[in-house]
Amino acid sequence: MCGIVGYVGPQPALEVVVDGLARLEYRGYDSAGVAVLDGGTLQTEKRAGKLANLRRALEASPPAADGIGIGHTRWATHGAPNDVNAHPHVDGERRVAVIHNGIIENFAALRVELEERGCKFTSETDTEVAAHLLSTELKDRGDGDLAAAMRAVCRRLEGAFTLVAMYAGDPDLIVAARRNSPLVVGRGDGENFLASDVAAFIAHTRDAVELGQDQVVELRAGDVRVTDYDGAPAPVREYHVDWDASAAEKGGYEYFMLKEIVEQPRALADTLLGRVAADGTLTLDEMRLDGAELREIHKIVIIACGTSYHAGMIAKYAIEHWCRIPCEVEVASEFRYRDPILDRQTLVIAISQSGESMDTLMAVRYAREQRARVLAICNVNGSTIPRESDAVLYTHAGPEVGVAATKTFLTQLAACYLVGLYLAQVRGHKYGDEINAVIGQLAHMPEQVEKVLGTVDPVRALARSLAGADTVLFLGRHVGFPVAMEGALKLKELAYMHAEAFAAGELKHGPIALIEDGLPVVVVVPSREGRGVLHDKIVSNIQEIRARGARTVVIAEEGDEAVRPFADELVEIPAVPTLLQPIVSTVPLQVFACELALAKGNDVDQPRNLAKSVTVE
Ligand code: F6R
Repeated sequence: MCGIVGYVGPQPALEVVVDGLARLEYRGYDSAGVAVLDGGTLQTEKRAGKLANLRRALEASPPAADGIGIGHTRWATHGAPNDVNAHPHVDGERRVAVIHNGIIENFAALRVELEERGCKFTSETDTEVAAHLLSTELKDRGDGDLAAAMRAVCRRLEGAFTLVAMYAGDPDLIVAARRNSPLVVGRGDGENFLASDVAAFIAHTRDAVELGQDQVVELRAGDVRVTDYDGAPAPVREYHVDWDASAAEKGGYEYFMLKEIVEQPRALADTLLGRVAADGTLTLDEMRLDGAELREIHKIVIIACGTSYHAGMIAKYAIEHWCRIPCEVEVASEFRYRDPILDRQTLVIAISQSGESMDTLMAVRYAREQRARVLAICNVNGSTIPRESDAVLYTHAGPEVGVAATKTFLTQLAACYLVGLYLAQVRGHKYGDEINAVIGQLAHMPEQVEKVLGTVDPVRALARSLAGADTVLFLGRHVGFPVAMEGALKLKELAYMHAEAFAAGELKHGPIALIEDGLPVVVVVPSREGRGVLHDKIVSNIQEIRARGARTVVIAEEGDEAVRPFADELVEIPAVPTLLQPIVSTVPLQVFACELALAKGNDVDQPRNLAKSVTVE
């Protein structure tokens, strides 16, 4: 949600900043802007719409000077996505430029105060308040100390923000601050970068510095200085990014999403790699929760949003089955508002690809205040949610740039299965050989996904044939239900179609009234093995909807002859154990949504109104 880039060094700043924005555009893409500062000259350019609009404006009238620079891609919160509301924002004298990610909650009161002091506002944004506040603070101080002014301003702000500022009075310096919003510094040789995500500077350096909560960083070409809001030196974590720029490029695919779907076998294999010790036991090195703590747990609560929530729903089936611990799953945005019952023996599992979703972060903080132990499942090293949790299990999907989650979902599933098995091992709910058997099955999943990817061409054709449909329904039972929900979510966000998922058994309690002639209904059929009764029930459900005119698209195990007579379209997936089936059954649904959206001419990497990392509540 909003991408931020800053650069101080000998390279042409504008070029570095705009290239960085291109790598961050997935974070927000309703407008973009840059500011460059050379000597005392501050110049800005900003445009509504995608980065291409800004590039065109910069080509048509390039800034006369180029020294240090900051840039921003926006996902609007306050004020429409137009040229005026785009960042950067400047003060009345155009001496200070500011970009911002997040929401300044007390901006209205601050705006009134600033207007009383004579500040003239040009935009409807909360961000402009920060530009005027910095400017008045600098005037009041009279010493030109931008970092000190930033600290004073941050102490007055409420809400969540990353703020980045430049000041014509100190043209070699960028100052940034963060609270509840991401910010990372890239250390180069005689140059330094900052961004909301390492992807912005990975082409220049893989040495990163993670900023903590309520910290201010001063960035000069040869120096990075970090302090807290009171000016005291602050501790930071330095780390080396373990992927390079090529991982965040399209690699010959037209869209990142297409590449990321194909990368799923590799991502799964990487997430499963190195989890079994020489003695055959499962070891989760990053867990940081010892066996005694895990044995005390009497309840698990999984919190997450969107696709990650669907991973959590699937995890519940596996964890309760393997560990016999009660497990609840809740959307993070609702969690803390219902006064949930938590204690020291509750394990909260927070699933977040980005590690930055504000809803999940707030739920994590609430859980920790209630003394629950929190385990994060996350794909982004050093992001806020794992940092604020007691333990973390990283998925190793590599960077996911397409806004719709694909490979991170499959790797979240793998991570959830590992957690379930680990708990079963530590708590003695399963014998070692039973656990090893499941680990062996998991180890085969990358090749099973590869197999699915090799057979999805008919799914593409089917998707194209349905591009004119108004509604698609999705049905599933057991772990197939969250898979159906994930299929519907993908279709909504990518194809902008009405798509809805139901537990197949619920259909007869109301939604069956929606079925009419030719309505496409996708049905995820459970494995015949182990849960035979579910399989038979869903075959009946398929017959019920078909009798009422539905066009049935059935996703079932290869060789499942029982469903064939009732499937208008049959999508076969490999036969795998019931609990692991979501890993294979999700893939055709991703392909289906992606292809249907492409057939409608949509941009699947940057669907309208969305952003990759949702850092507001
Ligand atoms: C859907 C999607 C979103 C995210 C959700 C949570 O394709 O990507 O629904 O799953 O915004 O994001 P994370 O996992 O980063 O917390």
